[in-house]
Amino acid sequence: MTNILFHCDNSDAMSYLLHKGFENKIDLVYIDPPFLTRDKYFLRTLGGPKLAFDDRFSGKNPLKLYLDSMYPRLKNIWYLLSPSGSLFIHLDWHMVHYIKVVMDELFGYNNFRNEIIIKRGRRKNLMYQFEYLDRMHIANDSLLWYSKYELARFPLPMKENEIDSKWMGFWSNVDRPTMRYRLFGHVPERGQWKWSRSRAAEAVRNYKYYLNHYSDVPLEQYWLQTGKKLEFIRKRNGVKYAEYWIPPKNKTILDNVWLDVESYRYSTGYETEKHEELLERIIGQFSYPKALVADFFCGSGTTLVTAARLARNWIGCDSSSQAIQVAQKRLSNTNYELIRLA
Ligand SMILES: C[S@@+](CC[C@H](N)C(=O)[O-])C[C@H]1O[C@@H](n2cnc3c(N)ncnc32)[C@H](O)[C@@H]1O
Repeated sequence: MTNILFHCDNSDAMSYLLHKGFENKIDLVYIDPPFLTRDKYFLRTLGGPKLAFDDRFSGKNPLKLYLDSMYPRLKNIWYLLSPSGSLFIHLDWHMVHYIKVVMDELFGYNNFRNEIIIKRGRRKNLMYQFEYLDRMHIANDSLLWYSKYELARFPLPMKENEIDSKWMGFWSNVDRPTMRYRLFGHVPERGQWKWSRSRAAEAVRNYKYYLNHYSDVPLEQYWLQTGKKLEFIRKRNGVKYAEYWIPPKNKTILDNVWLDVESYRYSTGYETEKHEELLERIIGQFSYPKALVADFFCGSGTTLVTAARLARNWIGCDSSSQAIQVAQKRLSNTNYELIRLA
């Protein structure tokens, strides 16, 4: 078991890990670094706010300071990732485009997988009070997803999503002459029927049988009782084309817009706390049980508690004492080693 919480600058933690043989060992890294918002962030406690970290990168050229600090850290993450591993970087509009370019250089353009659109934290749209605006209200953060190597493949990411059954037109405009056959007395002049002739014939028979013997039972129930295997095609009077039945689905494949999960949570008083729902999706979909998951900007420890709950091993790091204090509280039921480096 490898659960380690580092309280130090993450470049020291990464050097330590590389020195201890963790090169190519970490399966999944999520990081939620400062966004260069030019604000300070606090831990809100009953005794008053305590400074957690400063996102101003004060100096002549904050952008250069920011990128100079991220570059070597992202490079070391590359060394630490396993050959099939990948990295998710949580950012917002301030830095996402700059880090995309840095990452294309460090990880390679071909290892960029997706930009994932996620919900932004609670922010009131203040535009209503104005007659004119200089830009639109921003409603999303982004995740940049990169793999270490091009050959890495991932199981189909799925989400729970109850979708009702429905009937859809059986004709499509993709032009395949071999898929134009007589169905209900009609041969399409262009386009194609969706399924092969034999599959369609069986689906027509299935629906006729259902109508003749079980029409008092809802079709969905009949489909469930017959083992979720049957397909159906029907032709209604007055409708030009045949229709095929799409069964109910309780899972759909994820795309890159994840507005169905929360990204921010406000449960610990740590101002930039992220939501376990978001981490559950990333860790659950893009790593296996017992994988080693790391977050080198772990803040209040959201990644670490989620990894522990999903039976992954984890490594976390934060330089802020306030962050480590909150993370330790959240990890009180978990075994781990605390390492403090100067
Ligand atoms: C946006 S917050 C992360 C919030 C976290 N995802 C959560 O759920 O609470 C960024 C964190 O990065 C930490 N940080 C910034 N620079 C760091 C560095 N060089 N080494 C380690 N931690 C750093 C900050 O202290 C802060 O806690």
